[in-house]
Amino acid sequence: MNLFSKNAKLKSLLDNLHLENEKQLIFQARSQFNGTDEEFQELLAKYNVYNPIEKGKLLEEYKIKIQSEELALSVSSEMGLFLFSTAMIAKPKIILELGSSIGVSTLYFAEALRQLNNDGYVIATELSKKKCDIIQKNAESSGLDRYIKIFQGNVFDTIKNINEKADIAFIDIWASGYLDIFKAIRHLLKTGSIFIADNMFSAGKDAVPFKEYLDKDETVHNITLDFESGVEYGIILQQ
Ligand SMILES: C[S@@+](CC[C@H](N)C(=O)[O-])C[C@H]1O[C@@H](n2cnc3c(N)ncnc32)[C@H](O)[C@@H]1O
Repeated sequence: MNLFSKNAKLKSLLDNLHLENEKQLIFQARSQFNGTDEEFQELLAKYNVYNPIEKGKLLEEYKIKIQSEELALSVSSEMGLFLFSTAMIAKPKIILELGSSIGVSTLYFAEALRQLNNDGYVIATELSKKKCDIIQKNAESSGLDRYIKIFQGNVFDTIKNINEKADIAFIDIWASGYLDIFKAIRHLLKTGSIFIADNMFSAGKDAVPFKEYLDKDETVHNITLDFESGVEYGIILQQ
């Protein structure tokens, strides 16, 4: 049984959002690829069977950069289910999400909180006003709005107004900001809090300072999972 599929309305909304996200990514990659359609299809086929670390290198080799203000850049359904499952195990009250885009990962967390029924909520943070409006719309249409608090603006400013300690932090802004945002939210993480950062491989060199910092930090336990676009998975050992 998959607990997530209990909410059919949400599943159908997310299926559409994942599909749209994939189309956007392919369109963006195609616009940066210097070659024929046939060569592009070959590249796509290769990309789909590569493991995460090779995917990052492939994008670098072809100088394809998918970071863009305009795109949703949502987590995949596999990553979403991973976030959902983590929340179901950890039973968090507060989930702090850094970089929510149009709220796909937010919805996976919110559904876990709905099922846990423990008064928990996700703090969703996003720079773009347009994307925040879409998070609100998606949250309402899936009946999950009471589990989501949206903060629009630069997350480095937003964080100054947040006092709640987080049980889970999900870091998904542009990877060049991972280390700074981790330092900025460190006081909001307590012993036992889980932190997860996406795109550790696909972000290439941008994620390296964060990774090197964590590897030397004796107050955390962290590993990089060879999954999706490379996922840093950590636990705070000492506040
Ligand atoms: C990879 S997307 C997040 C995807 C989202 N977690 C999901 O799975 O649905 C990264 C988002 O971070 C936002 N972002 C980047 N830097 C930011 C900042 N300094 N403050 C707030 N949002 C930021 C971008 O606007 C973008 O929408």
